[in-house]
Amino acid sequence: MITFNMIGAGRVGKAIVRILSLSKIAQLSGVVNRTLDSSIHACNELRLGLAVQHIVDLPRADLIFITCNDDAIENCCENLAKNKNINQSIVVHMSGLKTSRSLDVLKRHGCSVASFHPMYSFSGDEKKPSLQGVYCAVEGDKKAIGFLQDIFTPVGAILYEIDPDQKALYHAAGVFISNYSVVLCDMGINLLEGSGIEAGIASEIVKSLFMNTANNVSKVGRPINALTGPAQRGDEGTIESHLSALKAYDHDLVKIYEIFKTVIQKVPR
Ligand SMILES: NC(=O)c1ccc[n+]([C@@H]2O[C@H](COP(=O)([O-])OP(=O)(O)OC[C@H]3O[C@@H](n4cnc5c(N)ncnc54)[C@H](OP(=O)(O)O)[C@@H]3O)[C@@H](O)[C@H]2O)c1
Repeated sequence: MITFNMIGAGRVGKAIVRILSLSKIAQLSGVVNRTLDSSIHACNELRLGLAVQHIVDLPRADLIFITCNDDAIENCCENLAKNKNINQSIVVHMSGLKTSRSLDVLKRHGCSVASFHPMYSFSGDEKKPSLQGVYCAVEGDKKAIGFLQDIFTPVGAILYEIDPDQKALYHAAGVFISNYSVVLCDMGINLLEGSGIEAGIASEIVKSLFMNTANNVSKVGRPINALTGPAQRGDEGTIESHLSALKAYDHDLVKIYEIFKTVIQKVPR
């Protein structure tokens, strides 16, 4: 069976271990986190793998995932280059921003390199994570991309190639879709509480509306076609009332409301 090492068994790292192990596609070998305690903790939680202290101590594996924080990728890569077991391994990081060029130094050691980015939010709580239907952007060496196709297509992931020079824009899209929607939900709770609604009820209202909206978005071609509310109806009076209430509440929210108003007007329908 294919063997793999994991540098950075955090939210994504553990999810990938579970997906590849449960489907019996590949077997975990070594795990390195920042500290040995954290690596041991991850292996105990996964009930798989061998925790090792340093990247240079990792055993030989067909595939090596670097799933640490984006900022630590180059440093991990330099340490990996000192490992005598990496010859011919496929090395893949999962940053949505960085390109496979961050791993180029490993090519001197006969490695094939790629970046593999699932546009998906892993919370770390998933006991049975899945890549079924998840779009994953890949770029890098042909051999590494072929390998990724072979192991992730059978678990339902949809791999497609991305221009490495466009990854910043691509990744910013993920921030808008996933991260900002979370922040907007939190702002919604804040406003509901400001209107006198009890915190627990405010939280449930936000979750219910968010799921309802996501469901509506999933049913239309372009998300803008799921838009309801005053901007969609052209209710200028309602929009002005919102703005004056927000002015008395929080000036930053006025700015955000105005930016959204302009953006909504510009979206092609
Ligand atoms: N979370 C997502 O939804 C998501 C989705 C797609 C892609 N990604 C990408 O996946 C990567 C990991 O993200 P994450 O959310 O899983 O992060 P995370 O939960 O913070 O996990 C990062 C892991 O990397 C380890 N680490 C950090 N620096 C290290 C180093 N120098 N040497 C060895 N291990 C190191 C940490 O070890 P300690 O436990 O010891 O601190 C931790 O286990 C990032 O490139 C991110 O862009 C994330």
